[in-house]
Amino acid sequence: MEEINASIGYDKRLYKQDIKGSIAHAEMLVDAGILSKADGKKIITGLKQVQKEIETDQFTFSRQLEDIHMNVESRLRELIGDAAGRLHTARSRNDQVATDFKLYVRDTIDHFLSQLTTLQLALAKKAEEHAEVVMPGYTHLQTAQPVTFGHHCLAYVEMLGRDVTRFKDARKRLNECPLGSAALAGTSFPIDRKMTAKALDFDKPTANSLDSVADRDFILETLSAASISAIHLSRFAEELVIWSSAEFNFIKLSDSFTTGSSIMPQKRNPDAAELIRAKVGRIIGAFNGLSMVMKGLPLAYSKDMQEDKEMAFDALDNYSLALAALTGMIEDMHPNKEKMAKSAGGGFSTATDIADWLVRVINLPFRDAHHVTGSIVALAEKQNLRLHELSLDDMQSVEPKITKDIFNVLSVENSVKSRKSYGGTAPTEVRKMAKKWIKSLEKQT
Ligand code: ARG
Repeated sequence: MEEINASIGYDKRLYKQDIKGSIAHAEMLVDAGILSKADGKKIITGLKQVQKEIETDQFTFSRQLEDIHMNVESRLRELIGDAAGRLHTARSRNDQVATDFKLYVRDTIDHFLSQLTTLQLALAKKAEEHAEVVMPGYTHLQTAQPVTFGHHCLAYVEMLGRDVTRFKDARKRLNECPLGSAALAGTSFPIDRKMTAKALDFDKPTANSLDSVADRDFILETLSAASISAIHLSRFAEELVIWSSAEFNFIKLSDSFTTGSSIMPQKRNPDAAELIRAKVGRIIGAFNGLSMVMKGLPLAYSKDMQEDKEMAFDALDNYSLALAALTGMIEDMHPNKEKMAKSAGGGFSTATDIADWLVRVINLPFRDAHHVTGSIVALAEKQNLRLHELSLDDMQSVEPKITKDIFNVLSVENSVKSRKSYGGTAPTEVRKMAKKWIKSLEKQT
């Protein structure tokens, strides 16, 4: 029974939140005249002592005492005697654990938000620095059109920006205090739930005691936001793996974030990127796992809900680690400009520029221009040439109205320069966007 029942092995990390919640509860009990001032004082001093013991490794956690709540209370009784028994008036472990875990998740979200800002800033700075660096842009991982490396970095800044709003949104919704809901039905004591909510920096007390002790939406939402964000991290990690391969050779990763092989001396394996790519599995796993735990539970509290913590801790820890590792990798990463530029011109990447020129200069409908361009590409392919290496005669053999002016749009540099539409890849646009992000991100750090 002890082995299956006890949660102290993992919920001991809630000690700070547990003690904070207990102090707020004790102060409220005194204020409401439910607890004497003298007992209140003893309890609060005792709780601070317990916290000190835990933080200096002098506390012995006991599995027989099941969880963090009972471990703290039991030690409090050893320290201050019978007054300790009055702390649990008008509350239950059900509202206590919901409060502790909400406080923990709230702190965790705040930490994520600051990590996300740091990662976004690292990316935005890379984007500004490399606003001009051209690289191939892909769809279907087939060369599509040239883009700039800065533009690619800013794509992730945008994704992470949405992640930030998801976490902020989850934080706002979780910020109602369950404390005082007691076991499930509320309490007959004249407690002041607004006071405890305020003391713990919640916006207000929760409005239904059954819901308060049965709700784990706050952790599901946080895991869901972390899952989506981890998908973003994983996609970037995958690009780092591809880009750092010998075949692509688009970037050089630092020694700090790669490993060698014990047998092949030439290898620099992108282990950190691969592990970031993998983390998403356990994060989504935790979201799925907890969803399965919750989906059939009748109201209100069931012990099943104790299973929320291990999964959540693991997922949130690993999400945080992935953020930190990716930030380090990006700060250390160097784009190989020559190789990127060379590849940017491959795969007939400026074909769309020919089509656009045909529309703009000789007024062909876009569909016809697309068709003409297809023939030009086929010609280049047959002669094993790049588009700008074709002769004007070759071009005119497909469409006689073409002039030598068309060669201006065939260079990769001119191609990206021309894409000045809002949010486009032109270096001028990229620099503007990067500056805007840097300004707002620096304000937040
Ligand atoms: N350790 C429990 C948990 O994490 C605390 C709540 C226990 N409540 C109860 N009625 N047994 O969920």
